[in-house]
Amino acid sequence: MRKMIIAGNWKMHKTCAEATALIQNLAPLVAARTSDVDVVVCPPYTALYAAAHALSGTGIQLGAQDVFWKNQGAYTGRVSPPMLVELGVSYVIVGHSEARGRFGVPEPDLQGDLLKHFGDTDAAVNRKLLAALDAGLQPICCVGETIAERKSGDTDTVIETQMRGALANVPAQALPRIVFAYEPVWAIGTGEVCDADEANRVCGVIRSMIATLYGADTAEQVRVQYGGSVKPDNAASLLAQPHIDGALVGGASLKAVDFGAIVNAAPKG
Ligand code: PGA
Repeated sequence: MRKMIIAGNWKMHKTCAEATALIQNLAPLVAARTSDVDVVVCPPYTALYAAAHALSGTGIQLGAQDVFWKNQGAYTGRVSPPMLVELGVSYVIVGHSEARGRFGVPEPDLQGDLLKHFGDTDAAVNRKLLAALDAGLQPICCVGETIAERKSGDTDTVIETQMRGALANVPAQALPRIVFAYEPVWAIGTGEVCDADEANRVCGVIRSMIATLYGADTAEQVRVQYGGSVKPDNAASLLAQPHIDGALVGGASLKAVDFGAIVNAAPKG
């Protein structure tokens, strides 16, 4: 039985004071579920220290939204895996579509040349994933297709390419520590959730891919989340699907009541 994991990706939201307040409001709402569900919040880097303090004793775990693959050096603006570990971070998101420069809601001022600020390639995602594992972090590795790729029938091919890229040189024994998140780009921040059956099918494709690369036993252990416009009113049907082991929640994780409701929608183990 795989343990559910519900993670909140706060993106570029919340100051230290706001992060502390959100955690204080959230903690009592999820207290009854932190033993059977991994409940994770991923604040921006600047709020990690304050969040770690506020999370103490709540059973909620801390995640980061990204990481660089070097441990130290002349990499202005980057944050290394050991720096996250020191702050009490357990999980780190890698390969989020926004970090790959693939936006569900295209931003007019982030087009063209400026897009390279968000240009993670599969090779970069792979390095981040390997470095995170090396430091003892648990990566949440995001994959997902754009609306154009879906319309042209390329969904499964895109997922497979991103998975093979992310998993290059990753040893079998590391797999159970990796969480995959199926995040169709067109569903992120758009309010347009993927149909539960289709989300389950693609999460199944991810699991088959792991089975192909690492064997069926490993594939059965690995957790696969769905992400993209998960809200309190659609969470239960998504989380009831056999291949969906949790949710990666953006917008709805910014409100304690909504994120609490999504955590409580997880089927009881
Ligand atoms: P959303 O974001 O829930 O706001 O669609 C999900 C994500 O980007 O992880």
